[in-house]
Amino acid sequence: MAKFLDSMIGFNNISDGDIHMNLISEGVNRILKNLDEISFEGQRVLVTGGAGFLGTWLCNVLVRQNADVVCVDNLASGLESNISNLKSFDNFRFVRHDISQPILFDEKIDVVMHLASRASPLEFDKFPIQIIKANTLGTWIALGIAKKHRSKLLYTSTSEVYGDAEVTPTPETYNGNVNPVGIRGCYDESKRAGEAICMAYIRQHGIDVRIARIFNTYGPLMRAEGVYGRVVPRFIDQALNNKPMTIFGDGKQTRSFCYVTDQIEGLMRLAWMEEAENEVINIGNPVEKTVMELAEMVREITGSNSSFEFYPLPQDDPRKRCPDISKARKFLKWEPEINLEEGLKKTIDWFGSLD
Ligand SMILES: NC(=O)c1ccc[n+]([C@@H]2O[C@H](COP(=O)([O-])OP(=O)(O)OC[C@H]3O[C@@H](n4cnc5c(N)ncnc54)[C@H](O)[C@@H]3O)[C@@H](O)[C@H]2O)c1
Repeated sequence: MAKFLDSMIGFNNISDGDIHMNLISEGVNRILKNLDEISFEGQRVLVTGGAGFLGTWLCNVLVRQNADVVCVDNLASGLESNISNLKSFDNFRFVRHDISQPILFDEKIDVVMHLASRASPLEFDKFPIQIIKANTLGTWIALGIAKKHRSKLLYTSTSEVYGDAEVTPTPETYNGNVNPVGIRGCYDESKRAGEAICMAYIRQHGIDVRIARIFNTYGPLMRAEGVYGRVVPRFIDQALNNKPMTIFGDGKQTRSFCYVTDQIEGLMRLAWMEEAENEVINIGNPVEKTVMELAEMVREITGSNSSFEFYPLPQDDPRKRCPDISKARKFLKWEPEINLEEGLKKTIDWFGSLD
């Protein structure tokens, strides 16, 4: 492992002043160090959605662990530029493909990490059918690959399966309070269906599946365009440009924000740990903040003079969002280590360095 930490092949052509890539190489180093003996070295790992925000981070970590990485992505919301540095690795392959359509692999696949799905609220309105297909048909196809190769599968579900939770911090045993016919239904309900399909494959075919319920995650590599769909990049963009910061409702609704390196470490542990076989586990930061607190923190760190503008709450916007991570602590020996201020500073550096 040490040789990867020292050399960080693929980041060698980065100049010292390049904040952009330094933030990623520093983050990947941190994850590799924390993972220690947890490694997919020598295993072929299929990452669907590998050109997206979380997928790109996972591919970067896996490639440096010497896994053989196959990234499948149709570039619906991901970017080819995210994975451009990875293309120089012999152990990385990109396949442009829509995972809701069948695909076969002759070579043995050891692990499937299924991340493919648009995930920004802005996209719920524009692409509801593609979202439903990625999470239902796409999950079915990913599970079919796992069944054929007897590989294990990590399914990236979401805190949205809890809907407007009546219990917070929310444990995995809470069954949710979701509106199936609301604007968020295409995402929330298809993720719930995806979980049900996973459970069917566990019960009927004995596949080893792990379900991550991911809570709001932010950090470098989040898309810059379409920033208005997600609260962290929206506030950062508005503050950096001294534009009014848009707050929905009174700003007293809460969220919990997980820095991306913590999230990726949690996902890697979930995919790896024997004890996590067939478990459903929340992965997120348990520190709850109001949206107003987030806005004030972003404004302070950026030194912005943005004002706040208030708009009506979108339909079915959850009032409280906070994970109970007792299960992750127990099964994954994991908890987040980057606090919101530190994570925001890194993310603001990232957005500030974009052209
Ligand atoms: N980022 C978060 O805060 C968060 C929270 C909860 C759940 N998740 C889940 O984690 C996963 C990754 O999210 P992200 O934030 O990286 O989103 P993202 O939009 O950045 O990445 C998703 C990737 O999937 C690809 N994709 C979409 N549909 C596809 C299809 N049919 N076939 C192949 N590729 C397809 C996109 O092109 C993109 O590269 C998603 O499943 C999402 O629902 C993310």
